[in-house]
Amino acid sequence: MYEDIEQILFDERDICRATEEIASRINSDYVGCCPVIIGVLKGSFIFLADLVRKLNIDFKIDFIRASSYGEKTDSTGNVKIISDITTDIMDRDVIIVEDILDTGYTLSYITEHLRRSSPKSIRICTLFDKPCRRIVEINPDYTGIVIDDLFIVGYGLDYNEKYRGMPNIGIPKMRSKKTKE
Ligand code: IMP
Ligand code: MG
Repeated sequence: MYEDIEQILFDERDICRATEEIASRINSDYVGCCPVIIGVLKGSFIFLADLVRKLNIDFKIDFIRASSYGEKTDSTGNVKIISDITTDIMDRDVIIVEDILDTGYTLSYITEHLRRSSPKSIRICTLFDKPCRRIVEINPDYTGIVIDDLFIVGYGLDYNEKYRGMPNIGIPKMRSKKTKE
């Protein structure tokens, strides 16, 4: 099924360790708080599910779905909100959970969009970060694993909707144009 993976970069243990580290930081940063955790669809769904099961604080969950169009490894910056949150975040602590931070266009757009609803605070949590690819200045508050300029799949991250269910993280052999989500 996933035979066209060139190389496995991170296994389930690596991902679990990174998720645990983030969860323990969130647990201590939000003691007594009830943040609204907003998953960026679709890529964050598996990371979010594992992350929240390691939390020992109260929280609410919502989702936002954004899309930008262009080459699969190059964001155009043309971001659109396809599906918005329904939770009232005014005066609430918000944690945005993303699968991977690349150029930064998507998260900066989403952050600005959510800021208009006057949350008390917004923090960004990403499982993977490719800082060498950044175009828009944005610094995540919680980062799992920093990687080089590589296109990775698995654990929620896709290539043309494939590989989301792969339990580990790898590099696919082939690439083509797609809609980024
Ligand atoms: P940005 O707007 O360029 O930061 O793009 C972020 C989005 O692009 C992520 O939420 C992913 O959906 C997608 N993306 C960026 N890099 C990768 C990758 O290496 N693999 C899979 N999806 C990626
Ligand atoms: Mg994403």
